[in-house]
Amino acid sequence: MIDNEALTYDDVLLQPQYSNIRSRREINIGTAFKKDVNLSLPIISSPMDTITGGTMAATMAKAGGVGIIHRYNTIESQVLEVIRAYELCPDDNIIIGAAVGVTGDYFERAKALISAGVDVLCIDVAHGHHILMKEALIDIRALAPALHIMAGNVATLQGVNDLADWGADSVRCNIGGGSICSTRIQTGHGIPGLQTIFECAKTDRDVAIIADGGIRNSGDVVKALAAGADAVMCGSLLSGTSETPGNVFEDQDGFKYKTYRGMASKEAQMKWRGTYSSFEGVASQVPFRGGVGPLLEDLERGLRSGFSYSGARNMSELRSKAVFVRQTPAGFGESKTHINTRKW
Ligand code: IMP
Repeated sequence: MIDNEALTYDDVLLQPQYSNIRSRREINIGTAFKKDVNLSLPIISSPMDTITGGTMAATMAKAGGVGIIHRYNTIESQVLEVIRAYELCPDDNIIIGAAVGVTGDYFERAKALISAGVDVLCIDVAHGHHILMKEALIDIRALAPALHIMAGNVATLQGVNDLADWGADSVRCNIGGGSICSTRIQTGHGIPGLQTIFECAKTDRDVAIIADGGIRNSGDVVKALAAGADAVMCGSLLSGTSETPGNVFEDQDGFKYKTYRGMASKEAQMKWRGTYSSFEGVASQVPFRGGVGPLLEDLERGLRSGFSYSGARNMSELRSKAVFVRQTPAGFGESKTHINTRKW
């Protein structure tokens, strides 16, 4: 029996509201993100080996967000990336995050990252509502009672509540919604991204909700925040920029690109494990886009404008004022730019 209708970003729009905000500078898009981790830009870069190393983490931190340095290397290499991020960015208020898994060297890795001074430790697995997550969370929480621990991914309210009860301060929500993700095709499991946030944000625990994956533009970020997320996590939106790890390639036509790949893709698994199991992600080439700074500025401008359309000066006003409407496929067609004389 199916008793849930599950919506995602393109199914809905936010109804424009009366606004008495005269300047977008009056709008605060920041988020209080538990345990003194306050972000002035509610955007987190994904712990993926083609998205976040030390350089991206430093850049995200300078912009007011946070980057989670990926875990797909040796403990020593990851710690070096953490040190690099802090040296690049010697501001006391910056927030740097790094990821660990739930098996193998995860506990040693957590200890090394905590000694290196990370502000956020992310316990990063595809299916986070799991006994291995429970054990890892309890162990790491005992190791670092005051540290901000991020965990995930989950797709249900029960998942959020359990991870919070096991020690998480923030939870990454969404299974199978990432741009490079094939989990839903491979396994038949997942819940559309925005519905996940509607459900997970019902939590009564003191935990921040992260809308992770499937965010393609600032409009999606505004919808996720209005639905109850405290921040969003992005991979593809930041991919192909100079700050991501990896080389810039050039084809014979002079077209420049970088690799962006799911961490469960065959290519990524071969690189970090030397073998592969079920692959639930794909690898792709994305256009090289230069520095991530202008991109983040664009997102910030889009967010301020989005808050203003809801008449909201801050995150809590956005949530209380937000009215979602459902759009039909014809409405979705109208919502996209659709000038029919455009030259491609
Ligand atoms: P994107 O922003 O839509 O590109 O999605 C990025 C998110 O996809 C990450 O933050 C992860 O939660 C998730 N992800 C990363 N690698 C994989 C994979 O191989 N399969 C499924 N999900 C993935």
